[in-house]
Amino acid sequence: MVTSQPKAQGTAVGTRPLRVAMVGHAFMGRAHSNALRQVNRFFDLPRDVVPALVVGRDAARVEAARRKFGFEEGGTDLAAALARDDIDVVDIATPNDTHCGIALAALKAKKHVLCEKPLALSVADARKMVAAAKKSGRHVGVWHNYRRSPAASLAQRMIARGDLGAIRQVRAVYLQDWLASADSPWSWRNDRAVCGSGAHGDLNAHLIDMTRFLCGLEFEAVCGIEQTYTKKRKDAAGKLRPVDVDDAFAFLARLSGGVIGTFESTRVAPGRKNHNRIEVSGERGSLVWNLERMNELEVFRYDEPRDSQGFRTVIAMDGVHPYAAHWWPDGHIIGYEHTFVHTLADFVLTLDSAQRFRPDFEDGLAVQAVLEAAQKSAISGRWQAVKG
Ligand SMILES: NC(=O)c1ccc[n+]([C@@H]2O[C@H](COP(=O)([O-])OP(=O)(O)OC[C@H]3O[C@@H](n4cnc5c(N)ncnc54)[C@H](O)[C@@H]3O)[C@@H](O)[C@H]2O)c1
Repeated sequence: MVTSQPKAQGTAVGTRPLRVAMVGHAFMGRAHSNALRQVNRFFDLPRDVVPALVVGRDAARVEAARRKFGFEEGGTDLAAALARDDIDVVDIATPNDTHCGIALAALKAKKHVLCEKPLALSVADARKMVAAAKKSGRHVGVWHNYRRSPAASLAQRMIARGDLGAIRQVRAVYLQDWLASADSPWSWRNDRAVCGSGAHGDLNAHLIDMTRFLCGLEFEAVCGIEQTYTKKRKDAAGKLRPVDVDDAFAFLARLSGGVIGTFESTRVAPGRKNHNRIEVSGERGSLVWNLERMNELEVFRYDEPRDSQGFRTVIAMDGVHPYAAHWWPDGHIIGYEHTFVHTLADFVLTLDSAQRFRPDFEDGLAVQAVLEAAQKSAISGRWQAVKG
């Protein structure tokens, strides 16, 4: 993480343009394009990020997105976009089944690539993406944006400097409820061929990345269980379509160093909208990060006076906290969209250096290996070794 280091004060702003082509323009397209527009307003960067081209499949929808999101141009021809010399970065904000093909083509065209998560549909595809990135010499990144909330980055810093002692347990949940009703419509997120899995690839992917980031641990073996409660849903046109992905997926994990992990993701937990929470317990303390209170870190430490021990809340929006000084005065909190701005800022800072942006495709492959092993385990009913 670059911007947790001292701020690059005095860096010449706006020296060279960094022209970005973004593929896909719905939910993540909106989040990414906001980051493209904001990043130079708040971070001193050696490159001026330019939302140059938005690419989609339907000309009218692309034009509407171009105007709304502030891109110079819109287009429906990805190959033509990749052939252009004036595009430096390809940003992939499309469904999971497209990530591998777009990334391979972009790397072949010598573009830097930022890709949404999960990196691919399979470990085999993720390996191809890692190999292509290495061969190209370009910089690559995965949009695991939650790493870069100030409080999560602070948690990583605290764990790395030993504040909790040796880590013993990680428990993480990512709970949503938008598919709790059988009447919720079918979408590509219910189609295994397009997304690979349901809540698992969508939500557990973030938990796996966050665990690797916070604790610096690797997953060794997993044991999973999954369930699909609603087997058919109507699509937007009213056609009944099969659901062949999990609504809920939980797994146990054995992590490096004898650490125990429990992970749960669901889209059918009534009342839970976007409850992404991770608790890490060490020998001498614990901490909790929860997206729904994303600027706060709950911390417990035995090295505090015995009579006043207890979980306390650190608001990680002071100048001493990662990213915070780039925004507002101390305590002026930020939100979901800022995590994408931070991700982009760090990515831009690594472009002109030999530094590895994290998470890169190797990190994405590591996440994919855990996802795939847990899926195999859920089918076999046995523990499964994780092989990246
Ligand atoms: N980082 C996060 O927190 C986060 C959150 C949500 C989604 N995601 C990921 O982002 C990706 C996109 O999800 P979304 O929620 O934006 O989906 P979405 O359905 O809202 O948008 C997908 C976009 O891709 C376009 N598209 C679909 N197929 C295409 C193709 N073959 N070629 C070009 N464009 C195509 C669609 O027209 C649409 O503009 C997924 O991989 C998802 O897992 C990440």
